[in-house]
Amino acid sequence: MTLVKGKDLLKEAEERAYGQAAFNINFVDQVDSAIEIHEILHAPLILQVADPALGFFGGGYDFKNSTLEQKKRGAKIIADYVRDKAEKTDIPVALHLDHGRNFETCKACIDAGFTSVMYDGSSLPFEENIENTKEVVDYAKEYGVSVEAELGVLAGVEDNVVAKNSTYTNPLEALEFVRRTGVDYLAISYGTKHGSNKGKDVNLSTDIVTAIKQLFLFNDIDCQLVSHGSSTVPKYIVKDLMNYGLDLSGSEGIKISQIKKAIKAGINKINIDTDIRMATTRNILSLLKKNPELLEDERYKFVANYLKDNPNDIDPRSSLKYFMNEVSQGLGEKDQDLKKAMKDGVFEIMGQIIVLFNQVGKAN
Ligand code: G3H
Ligand code: 13P
Ligand code: ZN
Repeated sequence: MTLVKGKDLLKEAEERAYGQAAFNINFVDQVDSAIEIHEILHAPLILQVADPALGFFGGGYDFKNSTLEQKKRGAKIIADYVRDKAEKTDIPVALHLDHGRNFETCKACIDAGFTSVMYDGSSLPFEENIENTKEVVDYAKEYGVSVEAELGVLAGVEDNVVAKNSTYTNPLEALEFVRRTGVDYLAISYGTKHGSNKGKDVNLSTDIVTAIKQLFLFNDIDCQLVSHGSSTVPKYIVKDLMNYGLDLSGSEGIKISQIKKAIKAGINKINIDTDIRMATTRNILSLLKKNPELLEDERYKFVANYLKDNPNDIDPRSSLKYFMNEVSQGLGEKDQDLKKAMKDGVFEIMGQIIVLFNQVGKAN
């Protein structure tokens, strides 16, 4: 099947009242595994690549500071790869840019063949956010690409998403924002947070979700709602990682019961990244522990040393520095165990989430 528009998947999720997960990926091997588990569970798939990850795919290890040229190269590599795989499967697949920093990055993804992009102007003043979002919407519309924007600020620390405190989305501003930009779906702030430490006793304000949903409904606004920072941070994975020497004390995720309530209240797209990073890193550490001879290989030795020196960095893009060549082509014959560690991480997290969000069997 050809890549589908993000909007098509979200309208389907809204009509049939299930949550559509959107999974961040950083390695092409994760694309294969994601498609495989979605095929097994017959679920529609949104794969998303965050702005820094584009630079990573484009060959920049210093991906937090990638150039536009690197991001353009990365956008093309990942779009070609995903398009090819999507054409060989029966499940619908959409490819989305997550937290696009500016118009140029969104344009690079649209030009490369993404079917959905996010422009994140949430840290800007209201009017500037509207102006920039509108520019992306106008360009994307010409190519039939869906657009996500963000209003309100989430707390949490991710490379390009850094804020100490959150500011919840104002429902009336959300209505005005969507009317003036014509955006397809809107990320709102209602208590979620990026990263593995979402704070103790996170309480999501589903009233905000309900209020925005109702306002949209009564004003005939066709715009779905997005929940960022929604990883559940499974306690058993935190425990495993701590047993391998990582420092993840105080890690807390979003409670499953709360995210389910949020879906009921009107959230349609739910972003998950941290859980996949944690499961992947846990599996890599387990592989190294079971096969100490791997440490004779400089690339694997770097992974072990990196995690010893950076015990709270669960981002595999950092520890897998010496696997940069494989990022865009996939791991080769001699690294099949690492490939399996990554695949198992994707299956474990995506499998659980697809079931939790009631997505099983919805790919038709
Ligand atoms: O919300 C942000 C995502 O988790 C992406 O993370 O900016 O480290 O690629 P990243
Ligand atoms: P987590 O850090 O909770 O996985 O959030 C991911 C996200 O919002 C990606 O945009
Ligand atoms: Zn996010």
